Amino acid sequence: MPVWFMRQAGRALPEYRQARGEGRFLDAIADPALCAEITLQPVRRYGVDAAVLFSDIVVPLAAIGFGVEIVPGTGPVVESPFRRAADLSRLRGLEAEADIPYVIETVRLLVRELEVPLIGFAGAPYTLASYLIEGGPSRDYALTKSLMHADPDLWMALMDRLADISLAFLAAQVGAGASAVQLFDSWAGGLSAADYERFVMPASRKVLSGLAGAGVPRIHFGVGNGELLGLMGEAGADVVGVDWRVPLAEARRRIGPGRAVQGNLDPALCLAPWDVVAGATRRVLADAGGQPGHVFNLGHGVLPATDPDILTRVVDLVHAEGRAGGAP
Ligand code: CP3
Repeated sequence: MPVWFMRQAGRALPEYRQARGEGRFLDAIADPALCAEITLQPVRRYGVDAAVLFSDIVVPLAAIGFGVEIVPGTGPVVESPFRRAADLSRLRGLEAEADIPYVIETVRLLVRELEVPLIGFAGAPYTLASYLIEGGPSRDYALTKSLMHADPDLWMALMDRLADISLAFLAAQVGAGASAVQLFDSWAGGLSAADYERFVMPASRKVLSGLAGAGVPRIHFGVGNGELLGLMGEAGADVVGVDWRVPLAEARRRIGPGRAVQGNLDPALCLAPWDVVAGATRRVLADAGGQPGHVFNLGHGVLPATDPDILTRVVDLVHAEGRAGGAP
């Protein structure tokens, strides 16, 4: 069974902390040799079956000059948030060759070097919009949801612009050699299914269907998305990411036939002693039921306090006992 981990590159690894140093995150992202090295670190360390491009969902927004900074310990912070129709003019299209040549170069370096597939990724329009509107991380997404409902025309125009940016970001990665893509709608789980379907799904569908002919599997992921699993599949995913709240057998029922599932070990459990982690890993394998079309992963990203040796043991256990790779 294939296994990789969301946020497998990052602060859980001492070699990451050493390579990154103290510099600005967005400066590190603009250094292809450094990004390639950081992308390779977890492949060497854990023996995972895929590499994940080292970048961030806000990279294309920073690249078009929206004014986004990544603040350590906080996440993306937007200096002047999106509030009114005039702000649409600050969201021009992404010209990948000119705006993010360093991402393209990183992908090219990696595909030359790697013996496992490289997964590219982008933020989905809703999750990107939440940062642009809230100005940073949020608990309730109150400004985002109120703009969505108070001015649906402006909301849909914003989603459409962000869909074009996400699609251009993914297409550039695929064009440079990435062999799969993941669309992160990390915060969509805060929406009702009705709001998701009306206000978010059309834009995510635009991104995923824009890649339908690209010949790469499309993974669609969100946290707390148990009520949205069916819709997130229908938006055009080949693989639906499932967090730890819904067992995989139930997730498969909600998603329906013809799509694979990815997940769903709770990343917080990886801080427990090994016998706990081993039991939880086996439970995920059992829930997946030995059917084809399961990619083992965590239910969200690796937490910085995780002991890397635990993740190496998870990979070994999945490889030894997992029996359900391949197409659904
Ligand atoms: O192996 C990998 O997956 C790493 C590549 C990666 C990063 N960000 C690097 C990063 C990926 C796939 C992301 C995606 C991302 N960024 C998402 C979607 C994934 C998810 O977790 O739901 C989101 C919501 C963001 C926004 C963001 N950027 C956050 C919340 C943070 C963490 C802030 C913090 O300091 O706790 C970032 C910064 C960031 N992106 C870091 C890393 C390794 C940490 C900063 C650093 O190392 O200096």
